[in-house]
Amino acid sequence: MTIPAASADAPPVGAAADWTIPQRWGDYTPEDHAVWDRLYSRQMALLPDLVAPDFLSGAKALGLEGPGIPDFKRLSDRLRRLTGWSVVAVPGLVPDEVFFEHLANRRFVAGRFIRSPAQLDYLQEPDVFHDVFGHVPLLAHPVYADYMQAYGRGGLRAMGFAAIHKLSRLYWHTVEFGLIRDGGRLRIFGAGIVSSYGESGYALHDPAPPRIAFDLRRVMRTEYRIDAYQPHYFVIDSFEDLLAKTLEVDFAPLYRELETLPDLPTSAITPGDRLFPHNDRG
Ligand code: PHE
Ligand code: FE
Repeated sequence: MTIPAASADAPPVGAAADWTIPQRWGDYTPEDHAVWDRLYSRQMALLPDLVAPDFLSGAKALGLEGPGIPDFKRLSDRLRRLTGWSVVAVPGLVPDEVFFEHLANRRFVAGRFIRSPAQLDYLQEPDVFHDVFGHVPLLAHPVYADYMQAYGRGGLRAMGFAAIHKLSRLYWHTVEFGLIRDGGRLRIFGAGIVSSYGESGYALHDPAPPRIAFDLRRVMRTEYRIDAYQPHYFVIDSFEDLLAKTLEVDFAPLYRELETLPDLPTSAITPGDRLFPHNDRG
């Protein structure tokens, strides 16, 4: 899910100083492309009723339907024309600073490898399907695109405050697992949900996980799980609102304040929380 690793290692052999590698699109096998096609059509059969409409229009504008794994060069050409973003390949998780630096310059880092046919439902490390199908469609949306860049800049700044951990929670609870309001109902937009066959319906329909209105302080105090469906979800009003509520706040005093407050466990409900009902099926 492209939560950056914490090391400040040198790039691996074969990677550039900024950790990028050539995608080598021509090296993918027919089986690799077939895995993308299966994952793509399986998700797209589900998503129209579940996902933020901006995700669908982004996927369409970028030509993600294939056939096959997208060529980052062609994908980046289209994306650059829309919002100035591009997609670059990396060997795996990259150090925080490298990750933030790319985002701050409107480059999204994506794994080049694709899962095996035996791992269609679950894998530990983000692959090209999670990274590209999950994350890239919304980068065609101008406001979301600005949010991701602001996040990268905020990350570079947060390194000076040793506050990456708090900032990572913001990423997790929005970019990876966020929900968004759609009138009286909810839709998914986080990449970890939209790229998951099981969680895309669960996140909206299951009665168990509380769905809590986005609040910056609340989000940065809340723990998350990386090994199971999320025990709770945060709900934004709109991408405009998310950008406004993060961009206009100086996080420096917030990081200091949060150090004095206890973390909140997953799925706990606190007195100030505004909760949303789960969607009815159908
Ligand atoms: N406003 C944040 C700061 O002062 C930067 C930021 C913007 C972080 C948007 C995340 C998202 O550091
Ligand atoms: Fe991710």
